[in-house]
Amino acid sequence: MSAVKKIAVLTSGGDSQGMNAALRAVVRSALYHGIEIFGIQRGYQGLLNNDIFSMDLRSVGDIIQRGGTVLQSARSKEFYTEEGQRKGAEILRSYGIDGLVVIGGDGSYHGANKLSKLGINTMGLPGTIDNDISFTDYTIGFDTAVGVVVDAINKLRDTMSSHERASVVEVMGRHCGDIALHAGLASGAETILVPEVPYDLGEVAQRMTHNFAMGKRHSIIVVAEGAGKGDDIAKELSQHSKQIDARVTVLGHIQRGGTPTPFDRNLASRLGDFAVRSLIRGESDKACGIIKGELTLTDIDKVVNTKNDFDHEMYELALRLSQ
Ligand code: ADP
Ligand code: F6P
Repeated sequence: MSAVKKIAVLTSGGDSQGMNAALRAVVRSALYHGIEIFGIQRGYQGLLNNDIFSMDLRSVGDIIQRGGTVLQSARSKEFYTEEGQRKGAEILRSYGIDGLVVIGGDGSYHGANKLSKLGINTMGLPGTIDNDISFTDYTIGFDTAVGVVVDAINKLRDTMSSHERASVVEVMGRHCGDIALHAGLASGAETILVPEVPYDLGEVAQRMTHNFAMGKRHSIIVVAEGAGKGDDIAKELSQHSKQIDARVTVLGHIQRGGTPTPFDRNLASRLGDFAVRSLIRGESDKACGIIKGELTLTDIDKVVNTKNDFDHEMYELALRLSQ
């Protein structure tokens, strides 16, 4: 029998598809190992508000296929303060909670790290569409978000080809270009603008006009929000060349909704179970990840202080194939 008797779980920061599948795995894995499990509603703010309830096998029934998070998410100003963090740790102790699983992004990891310094055993699960967490090849929700973008671009291609137009598609990702890169390659976009690679819109416009002259009937420009605003880019491209007739689509929060893909569900299930087993083994202050198919644990400190790698080879490939 494990020394860990009670675990709590929360979802925090921007939600992502697959958070529910991760929650289901945490709850069912804990119960399987004879551990009591508590859900915390609305992230760290819910913790501070004592919004904590006991969960059972049925609490997570019928959620593996649902986007969003049934625990809901929140951003908590109070939890940024030392006082808030101390209060959070005290509340967890008052329930006799031995471990906390935090499903969220970089900011949520910072919070987990602070709690662990106050004596709470914590485990982080990468729940964000941005894929901006280091020491994991994928975050939960990224694959689904990329699918949403690719689906939108497929539709845009239809109408852009009919009118020989350019389509500027602004996608999410905060400071990370991964959604733009992966969706851009998968949808055959001609141009991918990301914060990790400097770009020159004059050159982009030249390539676009050349491609139109060579018989292309549309041009797709995927721009990561961290690399610029779709509207500004469309305007500047038209200033460089009068022939460019660009339309802008900002995909926005649609990228954070919808049923998670099988990839995200399986990733979430594996990571959720792994987080519980790691707490049982006595691990704490760690982020769970997947690297080359293997489940990994990395110190949260290291994860939040290391810049996520950008796949420059994949970026070059997307450019080569989009001629
Ligand atoms: P994400 O986890 O998606 O990156 P945020 O950056 O909004 O989202 O972080 C979610 C929450 O985590 C914040 O509202 C705050 O309560 C907590 N948090 C973020 N950064 C810190 C920090 N440096 N110290 C303590 N708590 C933090
Ligand atoms: O981190 C996920 C994310 O969707 C980012 O891609 C985006 O920049 C941000 O959250 C949007 O935040 P909000 O939901 O607060 O508008």
